[in-house]
Amino acid sequence: MSIMKDRIHNKDTAFTKEEREKNHLVGRYPYRVETLEEQIARSKAQYDLLNTPTEKWMYLTRLQESNEVLFCALTSKYLKEMLPVVYTPTVGTACKTYSDIWQGIPRGLYLNREHKGRILEILNQWPYEPKIIVATDGTRILGLGDLGTGGHQICVGKLTLYTLGGGFDPEHTLPISFDFGCNTAEVRDSKFYLGIKEERNKDHVYWDLIQETIDAIHKKWPKCVFQFEDFSNDTAFKLLDIHRARLGHPVFNDDIQGTGCIAAASVASAIRACSLQTGKKVTAREQKYLLFGAGAGGIGVADNIAMLSVAEGATIEEARKQFYVVDSKGLLTKDRSDFKDGSMQDHKLNYVRDDCSNANNQTMMDVIKNFKPTALLGLSTIAKSFNKEVIETVTKMNSQPPIVLALSNPTVKCEATNQEVYDFSNGKALYASGSPFPPVNRVDGTTFETAQCNNFYCFPGIGLGVTVCDASEITDMMIVAVSVALANMMSDDDLKKGTLLPPIADIREISVNAALGIIRQAEKEGKARKQLPKNDEELKKIIRAAQWVPKYK
Ligand code: NAI
Repeated sequence: MSIMKDRIHNKDTAFTKEEREKNHLVGRYPYRVETLEEQIARSKAQYDLLNTPTEKWMYLTRLQESNEVLFCALTSKYLKEMLPVVYTPTVGTACKTYSDIWQGIPRGLYLNREHKGRILEILNQWPYEPKIIVATDGTRILGLGDLGTGGHQICVGKLTLYTLGGGFDPEHTLPISFDFGCNTAEVRDSKFYLGIKEERNKDHVYWDLIQETIDAIHKKWPKCVFQFEDFSNDTAFKLLDIHRARLGHPVFNDDIQGTGCIAAASVASAIRACSLQTGKKVTAREQKYLLFGAGAGGIGVADNIAMLSVAEGATIEEARKQFYVVDSKGLLTKDRSDFKDGSMQDHKLNYVRDDCSNANNQTMMDVIKNFKPTALLGLSTIAKSFNKEVIETVTKMNSQPPIVLALSNPTVKCEATNQEVYDFSNGKALYASGSPFPPVNRVDGTTFETAQCNNFYCFPGIGLGVTVCDASEITDMMIVAVSVALANMMSDDDLKKGTLLPPIADIREISVNAALGIIRQAEKEGKARKQLPKNDEELKKIIRAAQWVPKYK
């Protein structure tokens, strides 16, 4: 019975006659022994019968909890089709309605203030040995705000992607949520809500419990990577700073660093494309960036893109000076009242300029005219803000193709679609978006796919690389190395056409390249605790061999 109910070892109708005999399963299944391929075909047929994304999500979740190998084999085979169901956008609905659609299959750990002082004991009861943990407090789930305990599902979804993209054995993944209440009344007061029905309280116990958890993980599983997921801005930066500086323990925040990593990869590709298209060497250091939107996402993106210049020899201060950051109150400058009265959020402070003024509340267009950016980075949530005038102006004022990253999600909030940017720039701009868009129709009648800056390109490879080399820390330069590795995967032909990122269907190989990049940088910085071959091809073989493949043992 136990093996039939064990998601890791269950094979369902694929148990052979010998296995049925050995495991006391004789007579428990219909006669025919199926192959994994046959099981995949049936599961896909059943999946296709379902109408709504939520129904499909529920089907896949049940499958995942009963048979991990089949679930992973199915979702890997139909990755492009099923990614929006196992992850965003459908996982957002699943988080929102988590308690309503609860199916009696808890996964991972649900921690709260009652567990203070007992974390190690709780970890000791966990039956597997994790290599990667994704943890949230549920405060800022995707663009959906505070979803309380429903945020747990985002960790499950993310870890599924670590498996599909990075090759982490599901047995080595552990989702954790910290329940400290919920500030969204609609969620908290709903009839079936399973979390703590109180307003959030981020008192010292909140910080202590997270610290106790990270300490206990470090003690019990010292090599395990810990990823912060969807913490709101008021704690996300602080938690990352506190915990990456302590213990020599590999922690990272995908919202801050993963997003920045893929955005920087797109910019690195775009800079290479500029060199190819203009026939002269274009560098990161000569770029001028207009960052539109200064939330956690925006500043994280700027931090990572700045590191491209640092990798070319700039100091971090020089690199930050390449950015003109505009938020809802205008350009970040020292003469702004919120800077002067100390109310400006901490995470913005590194980008406050002392060499210009925000007198008269500089708009994005003012900043473009005054400072002539070569690249526009949109993380403002303001739909259509990169309009015809904006794109035409940056195209005209630059000798290189303008770089346009319209990263706001979901689609309805995007600053400009790929087609709009193509049309407004006469096909010159190099573009990537946060949300997926259909291919661009070119004037010559052909079409081409534009890059989607999806964190999925990066975090599985980051986790994989850190695990393979047993890195003691995840430094900023290690994240930059992933961006550069991804940009280097692009051929000159792809870049000349304006394609900035490889097709997501190649995610396993993308993760191998990302892992190679991060390992080499970890070695340079003395952060790799494991000795690995110096030859890249040999190391790639080791990385590939570390990737779990969904096949029955
Ligand atoms: P946030 O809400 O923390 O920040 C939004 C920023 O935009 C704030 O600084 C705000 O002042 C600014 N803003 C709002 N209205 C404005 C206006 N009229 N003019 C100028 N600035 C204005 O959000 P967060 O987390 O930084 O995310 C921003 C967007 O980026 C979201 O749509 C999010 O989905 C997206 N995002 C995309 C990622 C990707 O990988 N593609 C990753 C992270 C975020």
